[in-house]
Amino acid sequence: MTSCNEQLIELRNKHVPPGVSLLSTAFIAKARGALMTDVDGRELIDFAGGIGVNNVGHCHPKVVAAIKEQAEKFIHTCFHVAPYESYIELAARLNELSPGDFEKQTMLANSGAEAVENAVKIARYATKRPAIISLENGFHGRTLMTMALTSKVKPYKFGFGPFAPETCRIPSAYCYRCPYGATYPACGCACADKLEDFFTGYVSAEQTAAIIVEPIQGEGGFITPPREYFAKLHDICQKHGILLIIDEIQTGMGRTGKLFSIDHWGIKPDLITTAKSLGGGLPLSAVTGRAELMSAPHPGGLGGTYGGNPLACAAALAVLKIFLEDGLLQQAEKLGEKLQKRFKVMQENYEIIGEVRGKGPMLALELVRDRHTKEAAGDEARRLTKLCYDKGLVILSCGSRGNVVRFLMPLVITDEQLERGLGILEESLHEVSGGN
Ligand SMILES: Cc1ncc(COP(=O)(O)O)c(C=O)c1O
Repeated sequence: MTSCNEQLIELRNKHVPPGVSLLSTAFIAKARGALMTDVDGRELIDFAGGIGVNNVGHCHPKVVAAIKEQAEKFIHTCFHVAPYESYIELAARLNELSPGDFEKQTMLANSGAEAVENAVKIARYATKRPAIISLENGFHGRTLMTMALTSKVKPYKFGFGPFAPETCRIPSAYCYRCPYGATYPACGCACADKLEDFFTGYVSAEQTAAIIVEPIQGEGGFITPPREYFAKLHDICQKHGILLIIDEIQTGMGRTGKLFSIDHWGIKPDLITTAKSLGGGLPLSAVTGRAELMSAPHPGGLGGTYGGNPLACAAALAVLKIFLEDGLLQQAEKLGEKLQKRFKVMQENYEIIGEVRGKGPMLALELVRDRHTKEAAGDEARRLTKLCYDKGLVILSCGSRGNVVRFLMPLVITDEQLERGLGILEESLHEVSGGN
């Protein structure tokens, strides 16, 4: 007899194009906190959080209550047509909570890519310059402009060109595999200074509107720049009148133990994009930035039918309350410490773990076949992911070589669930490392 999951896979293959790929074959019937149950009744521990969307956990009771309450009142009016207060309340909260004590404004959209698209539009309009610089190993989405800014070719860009013009990418601060062959800290974080070279070889500074950077490159492999990196980048931007856009779509909303992860580096960006966990599971994104930049585009130049949908705004206001009033940031910090310790021990025990990196509970393991040559263990990462999944743990791989496993579990995960998940991970690491 075929299982419910198998029946759904068959239907999916018939009705949904393969381009919309599946990372797992468990169709979810129910999810709470850090646990998901599939249609065949199998329980899965969630170390992926719907790719960083469920930081407050699946169906957090306060988020569910806020959505229900709003749904009883009204579901959609379109903010441009018949405005409502929660949009403004959320904009004001993000303006207040985001780094920088200057005047800010926020616009709301639906997806991460849409936030990035809008940040680019605002930056170009405000500076009257065309070029946008992004980073190697960066990921900013799957729309036309965001594909151009994104680094990894397969699967994100392959066959979908030509891409948006006036974009170029500079190497990122990937210390484990330094693109310049240097070693930190002896290098003095010179990769940030290299931006100046690109103004002669690739695009002139006076034609560059903005540089867009993730504080920790998510899809790129949780690549975490050294502590002086962003200050250096920011100084160069300021010198040339270039805006610094920080893409917090994966790193934001408590993922690193702070509401905005760029606070770990202490700089105040011109524009910030947020999405994913902001909406507590509902589609919502935001661009927050200096008021004089945000207010540059003419009326009607920004927005859309669904941007800042009332249900999503209600959910986001509940999410922010959970972080600020229920101590979830502190909980995230503790989770980060626990994970960091456990992963370091795993690194001592398993040669395949070349590096443990990230910040707070946003951590990843880069897998290598040999710690000296650093040959990427992409097949092993795929096998590890599959083994974990078979044992009831969902993890995600990432990185341009596909050899990094990342952890984006809900921050509300219980100790028991965490221990069970880490146990499965360790058992699977043992198997991938040649044990049985
Ligand atoms: C840093 C970053 N930017 C942008 C995006 C695109 O977001 P979305 O998939 O919601 O369009 C993602 C998604 O993973 C991301 O991690």
